[in-house]
Amino acid sequence: MTGSAAPSLFGRPVTISGLGAHLPGKVLTNHDLATFLDTSDEWITQRTGIKERRVAEEGLSASDLGIIAARQALADAGLSPEQVDLVITATISPDRLMPATAARIAYQCGCVNAGSLDVSAGCTGFVYALAMAAGAVASGLHQYVLVVGAEAISRLLDWQDRATAVLFGDGAGAAVISPLEGASERAGAKTGVGILGFDLGSDGSGEEFLLIPAGGSRLPASAETVAARQHYMKMNGHEVYKFATRVIVQSALRVLEHCGKTVDDLDLFVPHQANLRIIEAAAKKLGVPENKIYTNLQRYGNTSCASIPLCLSEARAEGKLRAGDLVLLMGFGAGLTWGACLLEWTDGKAAGAGGTSTHTAGSTAGGNTHEERN
Ligand code: ACO
Repeated sequence: MTGSAAPSLFGRPVTISGLGAHLPGKVLTNHDLATFLDTSDEWITQRTGIKERRVAEEGLSASDLGIIAARQALADAGLSPEQVDLVITATISPDRLMPATAARIAYQCGCVNAGSLDVSAGCTGFVYALAMAAGAVASGLHQYVLVVGAEAISRLLDWQDRATAVLFGDGAGAAVISPLEGASERAGAKTGVGILGFDLGSDGSGEEFLLIPAGGSRLPASAETVAARQHYMKMNGHEVYKFATRVIVQSALRVLEHCGKTVDDLDLFVPHQANLRIIEAAAKKLGVPENKIYTNLQRYGNTSCASIPLCLSEARAEGKLRAGDLVLLMGFGAGLTWGACLLEWTDGKAAGAGGTSTHTAGSTAGGNTHEERN
């Protein structure tokens, strides 16, 4: 412990006051993949830790999954949809290039008084959106912001490419960001509560390592781009691996230092669920013990912008995320981008909310800390 007070990063203290999660019911196991790809359960398990993933039923898009998670998060926060000021959707698999997926989510959830926009920051999108939401609430610009990480990545995968098809899964998670209840009494608290700080970064020189080459204004969709399968995700796995293990450590240390904390102060580390080897290598370098790392990629694969809120939702349902816990969220992905968020978890509905907090965890099963926490 450093013993020093966390710096005041924002105007007023803010927190995550509601969570939601949704996973499609259709399960695709490694064995299923091996029936049509030159791969095996052994290879995928050893290289990634993934055993199975979910795939959205035909006809469903990212917003369809996100709407369910978003409604849960609102109920969990005890908010009515009319109270929401802004809906931010983080996604790499938007319903369409235009308009934003968030507009449909806001509409379908009944957020009739809210603005809406999408954040595109690869798999770091949820942490970026959380930073935008936290800043807006802390400044007083907004009272309640709904952040939705929603992905139907299965639609953007080349199912003939074993290097990418085995890694990803569909799903959605959501969080309500609001002023911290009782903030005035807590504002002078020694350790700080709620969302404490962020470290965001990007390096566009790594653009080609993880991308969908065609379909935008740089390379518009054409019969040629489709024939060349350039409308699907491409990845240089080695480069992404090296990048991820490097930035996780750097960004985590930066946000901890900025907030006057150390790795020893952490109760829970919730990294983006890309690959177990990346997570374990970074955690080892950081010195985070295994029993403080939360993972569920074994069952869902890489759900991109949905992975962190899905983990938070499950961890709380399992009693592994408790009020007062110091939690480090860590995202990384296409761009290349990365983002860390440090927060002290608070329990309870949003300040000024009208409804009832239900604390539902969504349609999710249990996740893993590598060993059970005491
Ligand atoms: N099944 C069987 N064999 C495979 C598969 C597969 N699914 N994929 C690749 N191989 C083969 C390769 O062809 C290669 O064969 P060769 O030796 O005959 O050439 C061999 O396995 C080894 O391939 P590598 O690419 O060296 O395997 P590596 O150990 O690097 O693991 C992996 C690949 C898992 C992709 C790893 O590089 C990785 O995790 N990278 C990071 C990926 C990631 O996290 N991406 C998401 C980032 S978040 C976002 O924004 C989307």
